[in-house]
Amino acid sequence: MKVLVTGGAGYIGSHVVQDLINAGHDVVILDDMSLGCVENIHVKAEFVEGSTLDEAMLDDVLAKNIDAVVHLAAFKAAGESMTDPEKYSRNNLNGTTNVLNAMMKHDVKTFVFSSSAAVYGYPEYLPVDEKHPVKPINYYGYTKLAIEENLKWYSELKGLKYAALRYFNAAGYDVNGTLSGLEKNPQNLLPIVMEVASGVRKSMNIFGDDYDTKDGTGIRDYIHVNDLASAHVSALEYLQENDSFTVNLATGAGYSVMDVIKEAEAISGHTIKYNIVDRRPGDPAELIATSKQANELLNWEAKNSDLNTILKSMWNVYNPEGKHD
Ligand code: UFG
Repeated sequence: MKVLVTGGAGYIGSHVVQDLINAGHDVVILDDMSLGCVENIHVKAEFVEGSTLDEAMLDDVLAKNIDAVVHLAAFKAAGESMTDPEKYSRNNLNGTTNVLNAMMKHDVKTFVFSSSAAVYGYPEYLPVDEKHPVKPINYYGYTKLAIEENLKWYSELKGLKYAALRYFNAAGYDVNGTLSGLEKNPQNLLPIVMEVASGVRKSMNIFGDDYDTKDGTGIRDYIHVNDLASAHVSALEYLQENDSFTVNLATGAGYSVMDVIKEAEAISGHTIKYNIVDRRPGDPAELIATSKQANELLNWEAKNSDLNTILKSMWNVYNPEGKHD
C-alpha cells in the first residue's frame, strides 16, 4: 500500500513510518517540522514539508495515489491545551477535518487515527477498557474525542473505514537504536527522568507522594513506541478486510513514578535527584488499561513495554557518554 503518514517525522510517527516501510509499504510523510526531527525522517520515505492546515498542499499530497492515511500530526501537551485551546482546536480539530476532506475528495477511505487515553478522563474503574465512559478532563483529550466522534459520522456518511488507537503513556525509543533523534520539548515523566540522569536537568519534581498507591506516587501504563508502531501496521492491514474499530493500546501493567526513578538509576548508574511537590491537578492516582480488544482483533501484544526495556532504549539515546547496550 502507499500510505500517507502525517506527523511522520515526529516522535511516534517516525517509529510508525519505520515499521510500515519494514512491512513493505510505500510511505509519504507530511510533517510541518514544528515538533518533527530531521534525523528521524526515513530515507526510503517521500517527505513533504507542510501543515495539515494547508488545504492546497493536502490536495496535492492526496493526489499521489495514496491508499490509506495514518494521522498522527497533532499537539499533545494536555497542560498547554488548557491555556491555549485555540492552538489545539486549530491544529488538532481543523487539521484533521482538512485531512479527512482531502481524503474524501481523492476517494481515500482508510484512516488510522492516533487517539489517546485522555478521552477517558478520570478512571471510574481499572483496568480501563473501551466501554469505559469517555469524559475528557482537558481540552487535548476533548479534541481526540471530538475527532473520534467525527470519524463515526464520516464512516456512516462517506464509507470511511477507520481505526482509532487510544494510546496510554507512550514511551521509549527504537529498541534497535535506529531512531535516535530526541523528541522536541518533551513534557512527560520518562524523558524528564532521562534528562536528570544525563545531567541536562539538575533535579525533577514528583507530583505528590501521598496517593493511595504502593509507594504513594502515581501509577501509569507505559507503552513502548515500537509496540505502538506495530499496532498501526496491523490496524491498516486489518481494515482492508474488516470494519472500523476503536481500541486501547496499553499493557495492563502499572509502574509508579518511584519505580521509574529507581530503574533509571540502576540503568544509568546516576543518582536522580528529586523533590516531592504538590499533586498536579487532573492526575489520577492510577491509570492502567486492558488491550484485550487489540489482542483479539489485531493479534497485537506489547513486546517491548516492560520498564527495563523502555528505559534502556531511552538511555541509549540520552546517555551523554554514547551508546549503551
Ligand atoms: N510526573 C511527575 N513529575 C513530572 C512529570 C510527571 O511526578 O515531572 C508524574 C505524574 O504526576 C504522573 C506520571 O508521572 O503520575 C506520568 O505523568 P506524565 O505527565 O508523563 O503522563 P500523564 O499520565 O499525565 O499523561 C500522558 C500524556 C497524556 C495522555 C496520557 C494517557 O501526557 O497526553 O498520558 O494516559 F493522555
